Amino acid sequence: MWNLSKERKKSDFKNTKYRLFLFVLFFTSCFGEAPGPSQCLLEPEHRFDCAPEKALNKDECEGRGCCYLKTSEKSDPKQPSCYYPTNYPSYKAVNVTRTETGYCATLVRSTKTFMPKDIMELQLEVFFETDSRLHFTIKDPNEKRYEVPIETPQRVKSQPSNVQYDVKINTEPFGLTVTRKSSGEILLDTSMAPLIFADQFIQMSTKLSSNYVYGLGEHLTSLNLDLNWTTLTYWNRDLIPRKDANLYGTHPFYVAMEKDGSAHGVFLLNSNAMDIILQPAPALTWRTIGGILDYYIFMGPEPKTVIKQYQEVIGHPFMPPYWGFGFHLCRWGYTSSEMTRDAGKQMRDIKIPLDVQWNDIDYMDAQLDFTYDPDRFGDFPEMVNELHEMGMKYVLIVEPAIGLSSPRGVYKPYEDGLKRGVYVTNGTGHPLVGKVWPGLTVFVDFTNPEAHEWWYDMLKEFHDKVPFDGLWIDMNEPANTHVHGSIHGCPDDSQENPPYVPKVVGGMLRHTTICASSHQHLSSHYNLHNLYGFTEAIASHNALIKIRGKRPFVISRSTFASHGRYAGHWTGDVESTWEQLYYSIPAMLLFNMYGVPLVGTDVCGFVGNVTEELCLRWHQVGAFYPFMRNHNTIESSSQEPFVFSKETQKAIRKVVLRRYMLLPYLYTLFHKAHTCGDTVARPLFVEFPSDRNTWTIDRQFLWGEAIYITPVLEEGKTEVKGYFPAGVWYDLVTGAGVESKGEWFTLPTPLDAINTHIRGGYIIPTQRPGMTTEETRKNDLQLLVALSADGSAQGDLYWDDGDSLDTYKKGDYSMILFKAQNKVLVNEILHINGEAEKLTLDYVAVCGVHAPPSKVLVNGAACGNFKYFPGTKLLKIKKLSLPIGKKFEIKWA
Ligand SMILES: *[C@@H]1O[C@H](CO)[C@@H](O)[C@H](O)[C@H]1NC(C)=O
Ligand SMILES: *[C@@H]1O[C@H](CO)[C@@H](O)[C@H](O)[C@H]1NC(C)=O
Ligand SMILES: *[C@@H]1O[C@H](CO)[C@@H](O)[C@H](O)[C@H]1NC(C)=O
Ligand SMILES: *[C@@H]1O[C@H](CO)[C@@H](O)[C@H](O)[C@H]1NC(C)=O
Repeated sequence: MWNLSKERKKSDFKNTKYRLFLFVLFFTSCFGEAPGPSQCLLEPEHRFDCAPEKALNKDECEGRGCCYLKTSEKSDPKQPSCYYPTNYPSYKAVNVTRTETGYCATLVRSTKTFMPKDIMELQLEVFFETDSRLHFTIKDPNEKRYEVPIETPQRVKSQPSNVQYDVKINTEPFGLTVTRKSSGEILLDTSMAPLIFADQFIQMSTKLSSNYVYGLGEHLTSLNLDLNWTTLTYWNRDLIPRKDANLYGTHPFYVAMEKDGSAHGVFLLNSNAMDIILQPAPALTWRTIGGILDYYIFMGPEPKTVIKQYQEVIGHPFMPPYWGFGFHLCRWGYTSSEMTRDAGKQMRDIKIPLDVQWNDIDYMDAQLDFTYDPDRFGDFPEMVNELHEMGMKYVLIVEPAIGLSSPRGVYKPYEDGLKRGVYVTNGTGHPLVGKVWPGLTVFVDFTNPEAHEWWYDMLKEFHDKVPFDGLWIDMNEPANTHVHGSIHGCPDDSQENPPYVPKVVGGMLRHTTICASSHQHLSSHYNLHNLYGFTEAIASHNALIKIRGKRPFVISRSTFASHGRYAGHWTGDVESTWEQLYYSIPAMLLFNMYGVPLVGTDVCGFVGNVTEELCLRWHQVGAFYPFMRNHNTIESSSQEPFVFSKETQKAIRKVVLRRYMLLPYLYTLFHKAHTCGDTVARPLFVEFPSDRNTWTIDRQFLWGEAIYITPVLEEGKTEVKGYFPAGVWYDLVTGAGVESKGEWFTLPTPLDAINTHIRGGYIIPTQRPGMTTEETRKNDLQLLVALSADGSAQGDLYWDDGDSLDTYKKGDYSMILFKAQNKVLVNEILHINGEAEKLTLDYVAVCGVHAPPSKVLVNGAACGNFKYFPGTKLLKIKKLSLPIGKKFEIKWA
């Protein structure tokens, strides 16, 4: 049923003569003849590319049984010239059987495709896993193929009782349709184009329910994807982020909106090199060169629940330490401990909060892991100890490429790893040799359990000397900067030169990485490449826990679905441009949707010289990245806050202090991400899916449900247009409210400002900011109460010691609710432990108090320390001294 053709076919079949004609055509096409004109009559946007691997001329195209169109006949150059006719042979489903938990069927193909090694018989298994989650796989029943080794939910034994979906299996040609029961909306329909399943080329297409599709990272994109013939390529690589390029990570998951505002999600669990093609039908094609088809469909029906359901499959994010939410300062080019120290000192001198200092490869001796330069960093351990004494933390970079050129007996990590067999090997079983920072290198194989032991041992030994707190894992695509593949080249085999190469930058799989054919413990690098950074993150996460006995802090460049369980991500080597400042917002929002909430872009950009204005605006946006780090390359001019004018410093201080003030709220959001799969930095459409104006907004974003950020993203601008969904929104600074009916407002935004609003109906816990998170955590608590139009609001606080492992699991935490209604604010203690008993509520600000109160009662007693501001309708109550762990009641009348 290839869409358009359906109607036509019905009437065509009334005509026996025509049927005969079709029959003849079908047979001739099997012998390489051109399909007939009627099978080629498809709307341009419904044409699926039949020449994915190379350009074909008319004869070649028709020779493979496809339809050809001259460039001059196309309405858009991006449309395919060679496309499948409606009767292109696909699989036929036979023996469709209802099982305990779904369906199974055999898919058989009788005609070979243009790709070598078609698998002529396949097994389809459909699992109704939960009411809102459908799972299906298509694989070879006769030969075991590679499957992605991430932990996913156990198979269910019986079918859930109230499934929200209907599944239909079309037998000839094979197609699978998933429909939302409640609305009849088709969410997945794979009969748009033929299924091809060859050894190294697997392709399936589906219809999309709307033009609003989000996800499918990591690419430089807006939040909602462009369906105008876009190819998204997956093959993790080291690259300065640019459009239409495969970048550092792989997350083949999307959320799509439906016509009625419901949302669903689709995840293809496959780690091979892949292209995903979007076309305006709207339709999507997955094209992968290995593994199996392993799909999960999430029914939502809200975008929020889709994201949660996805995380039930890939796992919830880890809970970072509290200090991880402070300001981080780094640069490539702090070439000595003196320079590193001095940067920290200058930050303290200008009184901008700073929690964590970092070093790039500068600290290393000859750029080797687990070493430090004895001259430039001779007092490295002392430097780190000094940071600890100031209540700060220290993070350093490590590389997965291990230098091998030191004289024998000099560099133990390499030799020890060699003995323990922890490296990726080549065709002759030797460690594959590439060339990265230290010169010739081998690459750690993090799919090998022994490599995890070795990684721990090396880190532990180094930590005994330099007591670092977190790890920065870079170059883990893995990058092989100076050779493609290895210094010995790569074999000329089907993994190095597959019949179809996705549209990777460089045109070949080994470009700036290791040979696809190289061997890892679990499988070939061809299969595992996209998991390299992810597996390194697991090893680093586990090693840090064992070494420090506290929450691990790992930031990785390369990622794969499920990464958030172990580590965070920064968006790589971005340029210091206004365009990249904008792209940092969709990137952050998308990674939150992928279950990696600890994410941020290098503040002020990494590559190139930043201007003072851009760097200031970038600090303002960066103060709302869940992970905030200013980092810079060695070639660029300095961009730490202290190199700029006093006015700029003041403006940066203001926004960093705002971040520190909001940390109790941010931390509570992370707890919800960790326990429930909520997003932290949240796209507007996730919170307001019924308001279509929000579906494309990615220049403004939320923290959780309640803090709304509208930054300036353009040079020379001191005002910005922002959309505000229906409701009351209060300026965080002045407390003044705006009532919106779902409107655009122009907001004056001078250089020292970023618009920050609280959504009416919410209560935000904050703290008076100190110069570190450690200092801030000792300060009094404050509540910002933003009343809804009907005068109510609520919020909550999750609190624990901020660094111990599994505090939630062990019950070592506090959870306190705050509720305001009818001019009364109370707390409700859901769970309490010692940490929160140290916290005192000192100050409450209530926004949206329409009549001036004549008195304020605190636990029944009159309180004199309040002030009402009629202009902004703000009520401030000070000097409260209320222990947060005891019930309180604050009334105004
Ligand atoms: C379908 O089932 C029948 C009966 O069990 C069996 O003989 C036949 O081989 C099956 N066909 C395929 C293609 O698996
Ligand atoms: C799609 O891209 C082409 C250029 O390749 C452009 O002419 C066309 O207007 C675009 N269509 C849409 C809907 O954006
Ligand atoms: C594998 O690497 C070793 C060095 O570790 C090298 O001597 C050998 O030639 C390489 N083999 C292939 C097939 O590239
Ligand atoms: C960036 O600034 C540095 C000096 O800080 C200068 O040497 C370099 O040429 C500048 N680069 C560009 C591209 O302007």
